[in-house]
Amino acid sequence: MTTGHHCRGPAAVISGLGACVPPRAVTNDELAAYLDTSDEWIRRRTGIASRHRVDPGTSTGDLAVTAAELALKAAGVTEADAVVLGTTTPDRLCPATAPEVATRLGLTGVAAFDVSAVCTSFLYGLGTAAGMIAAGMAQRVLVIGAETFTSILDPADRSTVPIFGDGAGAVVLRAGDPAEPGAIGRVLLGSDGGQSDLIRIPAGGSRQRTSGAVAPLADHYFRMNGSDTYRHAVERTTAVAREALDLAGWEAAEVDRFAAHQANARIIGAVADRLGVPAGAHRLSNIDRVGNTAAASVPLLLTESAAAGLLSPGDRTLIAAFGGGVTWGATTLVWPDVPALTA
Ligand code: UT7
Repeated sequence: MTTGHHCRGPAAVISGLGACVPPRAVTNDELAAYLDTSDEWIRRRTGIASRHRVDPGTSTGDLAVTAAELALKAAGVTEADAVVLGTTTPDRLCPATAPEVATRLGLTGVAAFDVSAVCTSFLYGLGTAAGMIAAGMAQRVLVIGAETFTSILDPADRSTVPIFGDGAGAVVLRAGDPAEPGAIGRVLLGSDGGQSDLIRIPAGGSRQRTSGAVAPLADHYFRMNGSDTYRHAVERTTAVAREALDLAGWEAAEVDRFAAHQANARIIGAVADRLGVPAGAHRLSNIDRVGNTAAASVPLLLTESAAAGLLSPGDRTLIAAFGGGVTWGATTLVWPDVPALTA
């Protein structure tokens, strides 16, 4: 079975990528100065050495605009029929951030909406965009993953602060042929709401607001049950990645590049080991420099890797992610010869 051939209508083909991280890098030692942790613990348990944090006042929409401008420039276009923004940290609870991002990109009038699947948001957005293209609803779609994840962290929580960072990545998809390089294979997506408590912001939504209870400040921060999330992440990511490989007709040993959501270096290693993806350059990684950037993680990794020549035209590429919800997703593509621009 060949990737994408069973979709009706045109395939979604990557025609340009862009990404950015805010300038300020925060090292482990800086965190260890006020949290009960250490550079050694963070590196050993997560593979993270530093992450980027926005300056006060910079929003997710700001990062999304920068990444999207670079992706449009890389694709050599100024127009898109739709803007799909994956994020956990929208500029406001209401309305969605995508319409404002679209207008700032000069795209007023196009379909624009947010997709919310935490760290799987970009893959959910990619699948939605590919479906819009296959259905003839759009010829070209901008898919963005952007986060100011540090804005929802409890500054005193050593189990989340060292892990998460800010950033954005974007891809331009155009209608094309399923057999050409850059054509996204079927995007496999899944969820298990029975595990919704593993990753959450307890307060601020309708469940708390309609209860009449005033939530303590602590309940407005992001909370994660790390070790249970770890276990589910390894199992679900491995399973969905395996399914994507089967659909593509690829053996794991034939994968040139594995672009996994950068949740934790140990999770990525465990998944790649279980799949049988060779170690070393086959396993793309930027977690040491950017940490876990949630919805931005996959497009940031793809863009940085392609820009650095670590992901090249013709590479058989496997993409997989896992996030809150819980949610998961995977797809495959043969990497295209297109520009990737970083800021
Ligand atoms: O992005 C999508 C979803 N997110 C993920 O996939 C993240 C999944 N989870 C993880 O990456 C890991 O579970 C963490 C990095 C969050 C934690 O690593 P762990 O190896 O699972 O550690 P743990 O939570 O089991 O904690 C082990 C010990 C605990 O101490 P005790 O109870 O054994 O005495 C923690 O209190 O490490 C302690 N600990 C820390 N120590 C120093 C937890 N955080 C820290 C810290 N510094 N920052």
